[in-house]
Amino acid sequence: MDEKGLPLDLAPVDTRVRKHAYRSTRLIIACIIVQVVILIYRLTGTPKSITRLYNSYTGQPDFSHLAEHCAHISPVSTSSFLQRQQALAQSLHELNASAYIAEPGASAAYFANLSQSQWHLSERPLLLIISPDVDSSEQVHARVSILTPSFEATRAKLLSIPSQDEVTYPSWPEDVSPFEVAVSAVPQLKEGTIFVDGMMRSFVLDGLQKAATESNVLTAPVEIRRLRERKSAEELEIMKCVNEATLLAIRAVRENVKIGMRESEARQLMSTALSAAGLSDGSCLTLFGENAALPHGSGTDRVLGAHDFVLVDCDAELHGYRSDITRTYALPESTIHATYLRMWSLVHSAQANALAAARNGTVTAEVDAAARNTLAAQGYAQYLTHRLGHGIGLETHESPYLRGGSEDVILTGHTFSDEPGIYIEGQVGIRLEDCFYVHENGTAIFLTEGAGGAAKGPWDP
Ligand SMILES: *[C@@H]1O[C@H](CO)[C@@H](O)[C@H](O)[C@H]1NC(C)=O
Ligand SMILES: *[C@@H]1O[C@H](CO)[C@@H](O)[C@H](O)[C@H]1NC(C)=O
Ligand SMILES: *[C@@H]1O[C@H](CO)[C@@H](O)[C@H](O)[C@H]1NC(C)=O
Ligand SMILES: *[C@@H]1O[C@H](CO)[C@@H](O)[C@H](O)[C@H]1NC(C)=O
Repeated sequence: MDEKGLPLDLAPVDTRVRKHAYRSTRLIIACIIVQVVILIYRLTGTPKSITRLYNSYTGQPDFSHLAEHCAHISPVSTSSFLQRQQALAQSLHELNASAYIAEPGASAAYFANLSQSQWHLSERPLLLIISPDVDSSEQVHARVSILTPSFEATRAKLLSIPSQDEVTYPSWPEDVSPFEVAVSAVPQLKEGTIFVDGMMRSFVLDGLQKAATESNVLTAPVEIRRLRERKSAEELEIMKCVNEATLLAIRAVRENVKIGMRESEARQLMSTALSAAGLSDGSCLTLFGENAALPHGSGTDRVLGAHDFVLVDCDAELHGYRSDITRTYALPESTIHATYLRMWSLVHSAQANALAAARNGTVTAEVDAAARNTLAAQGYAQYLTHRLGHGIGLETHESPYLRGGSEDVILTGHTFSDEPGIYIEGQVGIRLEDCFYVHENGTAIFLTEGAGGAAKGPWDP
C-alpha cells in the first residue's frame, strides 16, 4: 500500500518511470534471448568467440585462450606401447624372470594402457601378465595376457590393450581360485621368478605366491621400475605441456583474484581455468596468509587480506600424465611484510640451487640437501618440514623421491618436483614448485621452461 491507501500496483506512475520500466523490460527480454542462444551454443560445442562473449556478458573470467596450449599434443601411440612391452620382456629375460604382473594402475597403464579409470579395482582380480617369449633364434618377444573374472570377460576384451601378438584372456569362474587359473593358463608362471608391481595389493600377491608354489614372487626391482621412471621424448612433450598449461592457468587466475575473496572462490576459479586449458582431474590447494603454513591446508575458508600471500598448489592431467606446480604470490595491490619477502627470495634460491644440483649420476639425497643447505645458511632449515620433491609422471607422486636418506641415483629422463618451502605456523607459508626433467646431456631443466619456468618474483609468478 502507498500513502494514499491504494494497492501499490494501482498507484499512478510517473510516465518517465513507466518508459524506463518499459525499456528495462525490453532489455531483460533481449538478454534472456541472448542467454538462451548462448546456452544452446554452449551445449552444442561452443565457438570460442561465443564463449568469450558469454563470459564478458556474465562477468565471468574468460580462460578460453588457455585451450590452445596443449591442443597439438597427442596421446601415447600404439607403437610406443609395443616398445615398452618389448623393453620389459628384454629386461625380464636379462633378469632371468618369467613374468611381470600388475593390477590396473599406473604401471599397467604404462605397459598396456590399463589404468584404474579403464578398470576399477575390486575384490575380483583382473591382472596384466607380461612374459618374455624366446624364439628359436634367441629373439625375445612380449606375450600379453589379461586374467579376467569369467563373467567380465566380454568387458575385459573391450579394453584397448596394445600388443604385438594377440592378447590372451584366461578367465576364472567364481568358484575357482583366480591365481590357480593364471598359473595353469600362463605356463611361465609355474617356476622361476615372478616380478609384481610395487602397488599390487597384498591379497593378490599372497594368492599368486600360494598358487605358484615353485616360483618366487617378488616386487619388481629397480631395473624394471626405471623403465617407467625414465621418460621418453614423447612422454616429456606431454609432461612439458601439462605443466606449462597448469602454470598458465595459475597466472590467468591470479588476474582475477581479489583482496576479500575466499580460498574456496579462488579454488573454484582454478578449477575452471584448468578445465578451460583442456586438462582433466585438476585440483588445487588455495591457501591464504598463515593458512599456508600447514603444507596440505588448514580446513578453514579464509578471506584474502591485503598483507597475505596466496599459495596455489595445483595438479592436473593430460593424456594420463600429471602436472604439479606451486606458486606463492602477491597481488598488485598487496603489501607484504619485508621479512616474508626475504623468505620468499630464500625459497626461490633454494629451488634454483636444488635444480643446479640435480644432474645425471647424482644421488637424490644430495638434491634435497642443496635446498635445505640454502635455507640453513639463513637459519631457516627447520621450517622446511617435508622432503624436497617426488618423482612424477603417470602418478603425481611416484618413485624415486628427492629426500634425505635416499640413495636413488638420478638418471637422464627422470622427472621430479622441486618444491622447497618455509612454513611458520600461525604466521606464513611459502612454497615454490616446478617439476624438472634430466636432459640427455645430463642437466636438469624445468618442465615449465616453455612457459617462462620458475617464478621471477612474488609479483611475477
Ligand atoms: C588407450 O585406452 C584409451 C581408453 O580406452 C583409448 O582411447 C586409447 O585409444 C588407447 N590407446 C591405445 C594406443 O590403444
Ligand atoms: C634362471 O631361472 C631358472 C628357473 O626358471 C633357473 O633354473 C636358472 O638357474 C636361472 N639362471 C640363472 C643364471 O640364474
Ligand atoms: C649418467 O650417469 C650414469 C651413472 O652414473 C652413467 O652411466 C651415464 O653414462 C651417464 N650419462 C650421461 C649422459 O652423462
Ligand atoms: C643441455 O641441453 C640444454 C637444452 O638444450 C641446454 O640448455 C644446456 O646448456 C645443455 N647443457 C650442457 C651441459 O650441455
